Amino acid sequence: MPFFEPGLDELVRKGYQAGTLTFTTAYADALDGAEFVFIAVGTPTTPSGHPDLSNVRSAGREIVRCLGNRRAILVSKSTAPVGISQTLEHLHQLDGGLDLPIVANPEFLREGSAIHDFMEPDRVVLGSDDHEARAAVGELYEELDKPIIYTDMKSAEMVKYACNAFLATKISFINEIAEICERVGADVRDVARGMGLDHRIGAHFLNAGVGFGGSCLPKDVRALSHLAAVYGSHPQLLNAVLEINSEQRRRLVGRLRNVLGGLRGTKIAILGLAFKPDTDDVRDAPSLDLINLLEYEEVRITACDPIAAESARRVFPDLECEEDPLLAATGCDALIIATEWQQFRNLDLDALRRVMRTPVIADGRNVLDAETVRRKGFVYLGFGVADGPGLPVVAGVTV
Ligand code: UDX
Repeated sequence: MPFFEPGLDELVRKGYQAGTLTFTTAYADALDGAEFVFIAVGTPTTPSGHPDLSNVRSAGREIVRCLGNRRAILVSKSTAPVGISQTLEHLHQLDGGLDLPIVANPEFLREGSAIHDFMEPDRVVLGSDDHEARAAVGELYEELDKPIIYTDMKSAEMVKYACNAFLATKISFINEIAEICERVGADVRDVARGMGLDHRIGAHFLNAGVGFGGSCLPKDVRALSHLAAVYGSHPQLLNAVLEINSEQRRRLVGRLRNVLGGLRGTKIAILGLAFKPDTDDVRDAPSLDLINLLEYEEVRITACDPIAAESARRVFPDLECEEDPLLAATGCDALIIATEWQQFRNLDLDALRRVMRTPVIADGRNVLDAETVRRKGFVYLGFGVADGPGLPVVAGVTV
């Protein structure tokens, strides 16, 4: 596998060995006898915030060319602005082909649990104005025995954006509440627990911290905000969600600056490079923003991640990485937890205290117990957790 996804290696090997899964770079081979053609190519964000649709367009063009006068149902899985499936339809008509049915079928897979999310989806959304075609795609999913929502094409595409934007909003919401908690002396983790049990709110996506990253949430909120603006709408909430999210990274660095009495010349360890545990994906990961912000202040950085070091080095070739968190923390003036990998939840605090130059922990994922960490002699900075006594400390001066 070119990337890490639990269970995928095994699944692909099984299909490949059984002959039910084959690979080719030739469209004609792949389309030979196909009744359904799933388009699942990437739609990365361009610097202007608009998704780059060249992959979708070129796949669409090639499919249309290869199908000729043959009929197949196109299923669009790529996340692209509302209306892209219709663009595919137009492409096809322009090329003078048959009227191909197109069904928008957004995916809701999370990295790290993609297979589970595919096999046990909360729902399947199928959007098309061709009711026969969408029913045919529905049959493919029938075996999963999950609710299937049939809509028109644009609504199906909108469901995907609205879902990711809502999840991102929940995170930025709790992060804003967290900041208020810090100021008034409340604990956001208790607040989130109290909120989450209200079934209208739900407990998921209420973990405060250094904010969301990954290949979807940031990209999709940006794309939706861009789309809204293009259509003359003023997406105030979406923009605030993004702004709060970038602010989380800056806030963490700012708090460290205050605590250490300046950052220039300090050494800081970042535990966790992946945008979340169980993946080696660092796209839009908080760690990347933190590295940029810290490098700007001439901080010496050591990083540690069980599997994402390689991916991060593709962005920062000179990044110093250690396999052991203790080695990464050695001689450091602060340690940041940027990803809640299991091993970072169970750090040996006594050993850490011995190897660090200045014992400061910025817990960007709120995974450590503030009191325990403080009892071990650290300054603990959590998100939405009131600062303890002993602040500020000065880098290099043992507290
Ligand atoms: C997301 C959607 O969940 C999925 O439905 C969609 O198909 C693709 O995008 P994914 O990108 O894999 O999935 O990550 P997700 O688990 O949603 O987490 C996104 C980010 O939010 C991570 O950086 C995570 O650390 C952060 N997060 C999540 C929080 O900061 N707080 C939370 O409470 C939850």
